[in-house]
Amino acid sequence: MNLKKEFINFFVSHGHVEIPSAPLIPENDPTVLFNTAGMQPLIPYLLGEPHPKGKRLCDAQKCVRLTDLDGIGDKTHHTFFEMLGNWSLGDYFKKESIGYSFEFLTKVLNIPIERLAVTVFAGNEDIPRDEVSAEIWKSLGIPEERIAYLGVEDNFWIAGDSGPCGGDTEIFYFRSDEEIPVKFDPKDERWVEIWNNVFMEFYKNEDGKITELTQKNVDTGMGLERVVAVLENVDDNYKTSIWKEIIASIESVSGKSYVGNEESMRIIADHIRTSVFISADPAGIKPSNTDQGYILRRLIRRAIRHAKKLGIDTHDDWMRPIALEVIKKYERDYAEIKENKEVVLEVLKSENEKFNKTLEKGLKEFDKLLKSVTGDTIDKDHAFKLYDTYGFPIELTEEMAREHGLKVDTEGFHDKFRQHQELSRTASKGKFKGGLMGHSEIETKYHTATHLLNAALKVVVGSYVHQKGSNINEERMRFDFSCDHKLSDEEKRKVEALVNEWIKEDLPVTMEVMSKEDAIQSGAEAMFIEKYADIVNVYQIGDVSKEICGGPHVEHTGVLGHFKITKEEASSAGVRRIKAVLE
Ligand code: ALA
Repeated sequence: MNLKKEFINFFVSHGHVEIPSAPLIPENDPTVLFNTAGMQPLIPYLLGEPHPKGKRLCDAQKCVRLTDLDGIGDKTHHTFFEMLGNWSLGDYFKKESIGYSFEFLTKVLNIPIERLAVTVFAGNEDIPRDEVSAEIWKSLGIPEERIAYLGVEDNFWIAGDSGPCGGDTEIFYFRSDEEIPVKFDPKDERWVEIWNNVFMEFYKNEDGKITELTQKNVDTGMGLERVVAVLENVDDNYKTSIWKEIIASIESVSGKSYVGNEESMRIIADHIRTSVFISADPAGIKPSNTDQGYILRRLIRRAIRHAKKLGIDTHDDWMRPIALEVIKKYERDYAEIKENKEVVLEVLKSENEKFNKTLEKGLKEFDKLLKSVTGDTIDKDHAFKLYDTYGFPIELTEEMAREHGLKVDTEGFHDKFRQHQELSRTASKGKFKGGLMGHSEIETKYHTATHLLNAALKVVVGSYVHQKGSNINEERMRFDFSCDHKLSDEEKRKVEALVNEWIKEDLPVTMEVMSKEDAIQSGAEAMFIEKYADIVNVYQIGDVSKEICGGPHVEHTGVLGHFKITKEEASSAGVRRIKAVLE
């Protein structure tokens, strides 16, 4: 059975529209490195913006969660996974949601009701106990002893610290051949959580204040690999059909068997799969020392170290055959995997080469260190040397230390790391004196041109146009905006003409610092209002544009030159993308 297909077909047959997975790396939300849940790309719609595909949606969303990164190596955790989900955006609520889940599990997947148990929200001082959900479960045949009421830590869901949120009901499956206990104990690990239905009816702001949303939503998430393991009746996710060929290729590259080498093989399998997805993403991430690039580097380097543990000759391009299995598995479902296959293979190969140059020496240094260390802690200077000279991510040093019962002075390491950064920042500031930090002159111009384009689209296409994302480099600007149709040649011409007219008028660009509330009151445009700090910069261009923005911007529009649209295309459902240049 193909779980993904069955899931989508089921919800489509119940009036949902399938939407494509958003990219792994969020295009419009710089506050998170990766999508961590199916709901993340849907936040604006959970908050009330109409979704172009309607009120009932479903998909399989690519996710990366890093909270368990160090724990990878066990039977059930993955950094990358696919989350199956269905949503009601202000349409159906608890009754239908629970009903659909129950029907899918018992009728489509044929899971016996005896193997199911649920948790519901016990309530707190703000929100009452969720008797409604409990009653619905009972009416479907889940007995009272199989319903557990849990508090905020377990049954209230929010992505991060603020945003749309609500109580949830989680569904558990009894994964064991042993006799099923009559009473459900959520702490008994034989019960594994397989599905989470969140009733998103609240909004939590940065101060922790909870208010009601304008609409009641449903957001569900089911971890694909976990449920496949249930259906295939194995207690180790890495033994399912999802991982079969990938593990087999690691066995063949290493000449060792999975049995007895589970931990390293799981880490290699998991980390290579995630690295393939990160480096295939259209964001073009390469291994580096910051943000997503750092995660990519950490994953690859940790995989390399575990390959060494298995006795693989890491001087070869050993990851290639394993990555090719991953690519083969996913290229039909995800176009970017197919399109960027060569890029992915090159990223893995060159990072492998880079780390191999220092790995051997670093490992020797580490062994020396083990002999000389007094006490139970590796000091900051040694940890920093391993990082700076031998390219060992601090987390890798920590893991290796743990294997020898040691700790690392991570705090000291980070202090040292920051000092080091300050030094190099000061050095580069000196070098580029006169320029704007991190932004070239042309990039600064593109920032201002982006505001003009946003304003022009509102005039020409309609005031409903909102920014959905933007990306600037030395060569061009890219701008995503909500719009339900392909722009006509006439519209594009008008937009260009208007932007160029404003450039000619040499409008002044001014900046004011104000509270977020005042900014909104004053009519400033904002992309994701809930994501901003309380005090914001508001940039105004003449009287044509006013936006919350971090800048930088030019002082007068006259310096922008000539604005030209080079491309207008679809970005995702209901979102168009313009690429433009200043000449
Ligand atoms: N957003 C919910 C989760 O990730 C469904 O568990």
